[in-house]
Amino acid sequence: MGKWDQQKQAVWRATQEMERTGLVSGASGNVSVRLAPEDGRMLLAVTPTQVPYTRLKPEDIVVIDSEGEPIEGELLPSSETLMHVGIYRARPDVRAVVHTHSIYASVCAVAGLEIPPVIDEMVFFIGGGVRVAEYGFPGTEDLAEKVVVALGDRNAALVRNHGVVGVGRSLEVALEVCGLVERVAQIFVYASLLGRANPIPQEALATEEELFQMRRRAESEEESQP
Ligand code: 13P
Repeated sequence: MGKWDQQKQAVWRATQEMERTGLVSGASGNVSVRLAPEDGRMLLAVTPTQVPYTRLKPEDIVVIDSEGEPIEGELLPSSETLMHVGIYRARPDVRAVVHTHSIYASVCAVAGLEIPPVIDEMVFFIGGGVRVAEYGFPGTEDLAEKVVVALGDRNAALVRNHGVVGVGRSLEVALEVCGLVERVAQIFVYASLLGRANPIPQEALATEEELFQMRRRAESEEESQP
């Protein structure tokens, strides 16, 4: 039994779930979790690049450090590793990053349309609307920086002309966020076609944002308990 087998298994399960639910297909998208640091180095378990999910095995998940140096595993890490690392650096609260190419969210990403807070659930789980990152070339530090800006303290962002990034304190949360982004994108697209994508009333939005921040503070206090 290897040291990171459980985490690799969890990453693999997330890939199977995102493929089963249609958030990705083939080898598109990627998943990572933050591991406990070693010798002051940030470590992550990440999907390998370009392995179709139908063929991917738990042992194919690679462990790397934040410089991309391989620690365990034979395969090359995801081409979007810089984006995953950039998010972990900017957001100490984040333990998992899921990147998908789901259809309706990608429609908004291509149109360059932020998904405004049209559904209450979005504010509780994402922290507000889903902003669109400025365009960055795939796999670059530039893309990583732009995604970090779009995320801010929220749990999701659209990657312009590309897809979705969802983050969370756990893999389950990050995956759930990506599923939620796709559902609200679908609702937003159809409501827009009807000409009535009405946002949540301002007062309710303010209360929901406050609840989101309260939960965030409570979670971080809980984690800092010995
Ligand atoms: P990787 O297979 O290298 O993770 O790339 C897939 C992808 O979707 C890039 O955005």
